[in-house]
Amino acid sequence: EAAKKITITEDKSLDKPKLIKIRDTTENRGPRVKLFGWVHRLRTQKGVAFLVLRDGTGYLQCVLQGDLANAFQTQNLTLESSVAIYGTLKEVPEGARAPGGHELVVDFYEIIGLAPSGDDAITNKVQEGADPSYLLDYRYLTVRGETLSAVMKVRASFLRSIRRVYDELGMTEITPPCMVQTQVEGGSTLFALDYYGEKAYLTQSSQLYLETVIPSVGDAYCIAESFRAERSHTRRHLSEYTHIEAELGFLDFETFLEHIEEVLCRTVDYVLADPVAGPLVQELNPGFKAPERPFMRMPYVDALEWLNEHNIPNEEGNKFTFGDDIAEAAERKMTDEIGKPIFLTRFPLEIKSFYMKKCVDDPRVTESVDVLMPNVGEITGGSMRIDDLDELMAGFKREGIDTAPYDFFIDLRKYGTFPHGGYGLGTERILAWLCDRFTVRECSLYPRFTGRCKP
Ligand code: 4AD
Repeated sequence: EAAKKITITEDKSLDKPKLIKIRDTTENRGPRVKLFGWVHRLRTQKGVAFLVLRDGTGYLQCVLQGDLANAFQTQNLTLESSVAIYGTLKEVPEGARAPGGHELVVDFYEIIGLAPSGDDAITNKVQEGADPSYLLDYRYLTVRGETLSAVMKVRASFLRSIRRVYDELGMTEITPPCMVQTQVEGGSTLFALDYYGEKAYLTQSSQLYLETVIPSVGDAYCIAESFRAERSHTRRHLSEYTHIEAELGFLDFETFLEHIEEVLCRTVDYVLADPVAGPLVQELNPGFKAPERPFMRMPYVDALEWLNEHNIPNEEGNKFTFGDDIAEAAERKMTDEIGKPIFLTRFPLEIKSFYMKKCVDDPRVTESVDVLMPNVGEITGGSMRIDDLDELMAGFKREGIDTAPYDFFIDLRKYGTFPHGGYGLGTERILAWLCDRFTVRECSLYPRFTGRCKP
């Protein structure tokens, strides 16, 4: 009853506030400021209320005292309400902890949008530990949490950093089409669509298009969505993912491997040096250290030997023999045991795609590489490409692919063919490694996988 009588009004004799973001609080200690944001945490008592404000640039502890705390508006304030808040920033006393080392002593605040209380309160929607599928239905609310928002910030930094590295290496970014009529990584994972009566697909990889632009713009890269109708329900497979792909001309396999090492290491260095993302990586993945160069190089045949020696069986539960696929579980066991990045190289022709170039010293295997990282396994796949026309046609034949839609790709081997190689990097996979997430689903804003295409 008494609280109902207390209303909040602004003292007009106070200085006009300066509008700031939470990221700019340190340099704005002292004079009166105003901030917009959402109520991230709230603790109200008689005579004092503590509120943590979130505005997407950070978190700020705010203190409301006396009538401000006792007012009806404050006693009924809810988490996730949006507010405009006014006050002055004061350093917190030695030993007290608050984000940024200060708190806002509030003199006035307004509610912009009051979030629901009771059954509809956010705490009833998104409880930690709730069923993952339920949490995904409410992804638009869970993204407001500290973990997901941190991963998204690291993701943004990662994409910015890799673009910077490619730019420093003089590579050109291109934008390939997503609606295509070709496959790159096998027909079984294609999403088909009706394209004005013709059959088309959502792209699995932009590799073929990237290859075509080297003679135009030189070494090139793209960051585009790729789509895979994966039937496997694993922690590292999405139906749509952000694929970073690059293609380089006139280089040999070893130079190609060194390029991948360089791009990965330099990008990680930039992320760690980023004032926003660097500390977030350390929070998500305490003690994370950038990998050391050179990465371990392990040919496929040596990997089989390693797996057999460590009694890790193949898919059928037997010892590995040449030609076996190294499936996810075995690959992960090996990577986790070795505990550092591995270049797994020289895969047999039969278990790889039609376009991969054979090794000169052993035509059973290809100049191919998978980059394996602890806790995730494969984050990158790439190879040198067949540049000889006849050899390419044989590759198509071996895989039983109708070459009609590939004329543009085949012609590349006629009009000034050249040695080249490229790779694809799964953004969500490298983030799972960098941010120590259990699954790639935590590294995608609205993950798509079997059974989920919403919100
Ligand atoms: O190994 P993949 O299938 O290779 C290609 O697509 C090549 N054409 C790329 C190229 O050479 N330009 O895929 C490359 C990477 C994988 O290493 C993995 O990180 C990621 O893409 N990836 C996936 N990420 C999430 N969900 C999936 N279903 C993925 N499939 C592949």
